Amino acid sequence: MSSYLLCDQPKVVQEPGPDKIKEEIKSKVLRPGLWCCLLYARCWMSEAGCWVSEAGCWVSEAGCWVSEAGCWVSEAGCWVSEAGCWVPLGLVGLVTGGASGLGRGTAEHLVKHGGRVVICDLPSSKGREAAKQLAGNGAFVPVDVTSEDDVKNALQTTVDKFGRLDVVVNCAGIITASRVYNVKKDQPFDLKAFQRTIDVNLIGTFNVIRLAVGLISKNASDGDGQRGVIINTSSVAAFDGQIGQAAYSASKAGIVGMTLPLARDLAKQGIRVVTIAPGMFRTPLVDAMPEKVLRELEAGVPFPSRLGQPHEFALLVQSIIQNPMLNGETIRLDGALRMQ
Ligand SMILES: NC(=O)c1ccc[n+]([C@@H]2O[C@H](COP(=O)([O-])OP(=O)(O)OC[C@H]3O[C@@H](n4cnc5c(N)ncnc54)[C@H](O)[C@@H]3O)[C@@H](O)[C@H]2O)c1
Repeated sequence: MSSYLLCDQPKVVQEPGPDKIKEEIKSKVLRPGLWCCLLYARCWMSEAGCWVSEAGCWVSEAGCWVSEAGCWVSEAGCWVSEAGCWVPLGLVGLVTGGASGLGRGTAEHLVKHGGRVVICDLPSSKGREAAKQLAGNGAFVPVDVTSEDDVKNALQTTVDKFGRLDVVVNCAGIITASRVYNVKKDQPFDLKAFQRTIDVNLIGTFNVIRLAVGLISKNASDGDGQRGVIINTSSVAAFDGQIGQAAYSASKAGIVGMTLPLARDLAKQGIRVVTIAPGMFRTPLVDAMPEKVLRELEAGVPFPSRLGQPHEFALLVQSIIQNPMLNGETIRLDGALRMQ
C-alpha cells in the first residue's frame, strides 16, 4: 500500500522541539483557524488553541502533529516517522453505504485529505449526488452489497477509474427492530426480516471483503509488508443489544466475530482488518427515530452526552488507516455508552 502512500521525496517537516513550540504558541504562529494539541504545557483550547503534554503537538487543518517520531501535515499530506513518509494524497478507498450517514462522512473525509473514493450504495440512494460533491475524486457505483455481480462491477470501476484499491470501509447496513414474539398479535418474529438483516449487514460485509482482497493483494507492499486496510462497521448492539434487536445484534456480533479470523487469514497478504462499533451517531438511520427517543438516547451517553457526528467516525477511520499496529480488533466509539 505504501508504495502509493510513501513519498518518494518526503517533505520532512522539522520537529520544532518544545521550546520552539511554546514560542510559536506565544507568537500565535500556530493560531489561525486551527486547534492544536501541544503536549507540553498541559492546556487545551479548541479551535484556536492548543493542548500540551509530553509527547508532541497536534495541529489540524493546516498544521502538523509533532512527536518524537515525526510530523504529520494534513493539507500537505505528509507523515514522517522512522519508517518514512505517509501521504494520504491519492489513497483509493471503496466505501459501501457511502451515500448516507457514516459512509458519506467517511467518503468526504478521505477526499478532503487527498484520497479518491468509490461510493457503493443502492441504486435508489443519493450516491450519485454524494459522488458529485467529491468532484473528480469520487465515483458512484450502484451496488447491493449482497450481490456478487454488483460488487465485482464496483471493483472493476475502481480499477478503471483510479487504478487500484487501498482501503475498504464497509458501512452499508440496515436496522430491524422487532421482539422475537408479539404476544398481542400472537405473532413470531418474521423470519424473512431476520434473514434480510443478516444478509445485508453480515453477509454483505463479508461479500465485499472476500471480493476486494484479491484486488488489494495486487498492491505493492510497504516496508512493513502492508498492502491495504479493511474497516468494518459493527455496533455497540453487538455487545449490549436491546429489546427488539435480536436480528440487528446478531448481524453486528457476526462482524465482530469474523474480524480476528479475517485479520489472521489476510496477514500474509499484508491486509489489516479492523472493526468500529459505533454508539449512537446522528445519521438518517437514527433521524427516523422520534425526537423524544433521541433525547433519551443522548442522555444515556456519559460523555460527551450527545449523538456522535459522521466526521468523528471518519476520524477513527483515518487513525486506523494510519496506524499499522491496529489489526484484528473491534474498537467501540461510543462516549462510554453502555445500552440497557
Ligand atoms: N447511526 C448510528 O447510530 C449507528 C450506530 C451503530 C452502527 N451503525 C452502523 O453504521 C452503518 C452506517 O449507518 P448510518 O447510520 O450511516 O445509516 P444510513 O442509513 O445513513 O446509511 C446506510 C447506507 O447503507 C445503504 N445500504 C443499505 N442496504 C444496502 C445494501 N444492501 N447494499 C448497499 N448499500 C446499502 C443505505 O442505502 C444507506 O445509504 C450501518 O451498518 C449501521 O448499522 C450506525
